[in-house]
Amino acid sequence: MRVTKAVVPVAGLGTRFLPATKAIAKEMLPVVDKPAIQYVVEEATAAGLDDLLFVTGRNKSALEDHFDRTVELEESLRSKGDTERLALVEASVDLARIHYIRQGAPLGLGHAVLMGRDHVGDEPFAVLLGDDLIDPRDPVLAQMLDLQQRHGGSVICLMEVPADQISLYGCAAVQPQGDHVIVTDLIEKPDLALAPSNLAVIGRYVLDPAVFNVLENMPPGRGGEIQLTDALVQLAAMSAVDGGGVRGVVFNGRRYDTGDRLSYLQAVIQLALERDDLGPPLHAWLVDHLEEMKGDR
Ligand code: G1P
Repeated sequence: MRVTKAVVPVAGLGTRFLPATKAIAKEMLPVVDKPAIQYVVEEATAAGLDDLLFVTGRNKSALEDHFDRTVELEESLRSKGDTERLALVEASVDLARIHYIRQGAPLGLGHAVLMGRDHVGDEPFAVLLGDDLIDPRDPVLAQMLDLQQRHGGSVICLMEVPADQISLYGCAAVQPQGDHVIVTDLIEKPDLALAPSNLAVIGRYVLDPAVFNVLENMPPGRGGEIQLTDALVQLAAMSAVDGGGVRGVVFNGRRYDTGDRLSYLQAVIQLALERDDLGPPLHAWLVDHLEEMKGDR
């Protein structure tokens, strides 16, 4: 069954970006000149996922506005003949069919995914986390969907990370299997000494609907939250006829992390440097600025 649906959890409070996120959603923070969430939606639609369910919370209405028409603004730009900006404003509207559901209580990523059960039904689906931006030139989601179509079960995205970062992620134990890996175990945010590998779980998943039954019966895990990682451990141990089996794609393409302030700034600079309009002047300024700073030391 071709995968067309994606669940996008966006209910997080964005506490790492306070006070910027006191009144606006962290997903709306601009990465160069587009809100972070638009990159994620564009990635989903490029992979053929055109039915998205946002799992939202309070303070998230700007997300709905962003992907909706803005008739007054469009009229104003049209009357001024500003077709370039009009196209930018209209671009986010027709990307995908976006549905919204409130998470209610912030009980964890596993709980957010479980909120998608009625919308998704009995078919495989994707989950995209907004903190990870994947460069469109490295379309890992398409690769994951292809793997899921070939073998069934669930597919996760893994990336090698330095030892001092593994405790920030889910970490996988794997066995190589041709162009991918079989996931045998996972630990959510392990201490380095307990990490089974240097392979971190990145925020892209293609899941068998069997995950919903598992999540429904899942006790809270790390941090008192219902963890998607714990559900994947159970899926990995289940037989294929029951919707079990977890495979992993080891991604070594370009990924930008907007999850904390430093990596967010790095993502903005990296992406701006790649742009034809902003890249050359920003590069020149950065070089000059760093030179000046050297002199100041
Ligand atoms: C979540 C998952 C974690 C994964 C990470 C990827 O953690 O629980 O397993 O490695 O996303 O970004 P969070 O970053 O939401 O704490």
